[in-house]
Amino acid sequence: MRVLGIETSCDETGVALFDEKNGLLGHRLYSQVAKHAPYGGVVPELASRDHVRKLIPLVDELMRDQNQSPDDIDAVAYTAGPGLIGALLVGASTGRALAWAWGAKAVAVHHMEGHLLATLIDNSEVTCPFVALLVSGGHTLLVAVEEIRRYQLLGDTLDDAVGEAFDKTAKLLGLGYPGGPALSKLAQSGRDNRFAFPRPMTKRPGLDFSFSGLKTAALTVWRDHKDNPNAAADVAASFQQAVVDTLIIKCRRALKQTGFRRLIVAGGVGANQPLRAQLKAAAEREGWSVHYPPLDLCTDNGAMIAYAGLVRLRAGADEGLPIWVRPRWPLVEVAS
Ligand code: KG4
Ligand code: ZN
Repeated sequence: MRVLGIETSCDETGVALFDEKNGLLGHRLYSQVAKHAPYGGVVPELASRDHVRKLIPLVDELMRDQNQSPDDIDAVAYTAGPGLIGALLVGASTGRALAWAWGAKAVAVHHMEGHLLATLIDNSEVTCPFVALLVSGGHTLLVAVEEIRRYQLLGDTLDDAVGEAFDKTAKLLGLGYPGGPALSKLAQSGRDNRFAFPRPMTKRPGLDFSFSGLKTAALTVWRDHKDNPNAAADVAASFQQAVVDTLIIKCRRALKQTGFRRLIVAGGVGANQPLRAQLKAAAEREGWSVHYPPLDLCTDNGAMIAYAGLVRLRAGADEGLPIWVRPRWPLVEVAS
């Protein structure tokens, strides 16, 4: 089986070809970051229009480079949610139309399930059960996975997602959008213990997160210290360390609660190097294992959607002709 994957839930247009036997054949990504940067965040209408402009040319380019004709494609998988409604509709209607024209099946994919399953691509070490930490611009989820497609929510954010907190703090420091990678880079030259930021919701039991207080703490400290030498780098490093500590405390707690010995981390913030390094060290110390998708498949991409589509196809999925999207779609409802 060979699947074309299409991702258009936010500000990246991603396409990929995944083959059941040979794995990922190729993928293409077009980022709209430059388009949204002047506005300091994603402008939904501009995102939809850019997906319209880029999606078909990207599919064409990928099919040509991989020497594929429509007859070679068994299914088209597309992100149906969660995400921006207009952006999702571009991918879903294009994906469904291509499937119809090519006589292929159509599969609607949950974006966060795509992030989660990306960890399993070319990685036979990762088997169920495991705990998944899904950290992106819109979500911060801890999920118990006893079986693929059966997801039990352990923890969620009560306010800002962790990527959102990175982006807002980066904006505060004048680093532009999206700020996560830029903040992390700046933090390399800062002291992570200069400012004592909170580790939110770690003192009481439970697996939920809250990041808006941490963001406000960064704002207050920045206001008081912005004229001091190296303040921006020190705020960045102290903020990042507070986030990393918080995530690690909750992951450890989730592993203890479930009794599972395996953790997977996916979503854009999963590309954060200090998070990776410190989770690895904790895992080695404490006798559990931690796994990630390849770095380029941590942030939004078409490969994770193609792969998740294949997993769904194996379970018998085929959407038929209706085109639907679900901008708010809890991961736990994916199998219902
Ligand atoms: O998964 P993703 O590409 O898109 C969504 O589904 O949201 O995640 C994007 C988020 C952004 O908030 C971005 O700032 C953050 O991931 N991010 C990072 C890093 N790379 C991306 N945050 C911290 N450190 C990074 N290296
Ligand atoms: Zn994402």
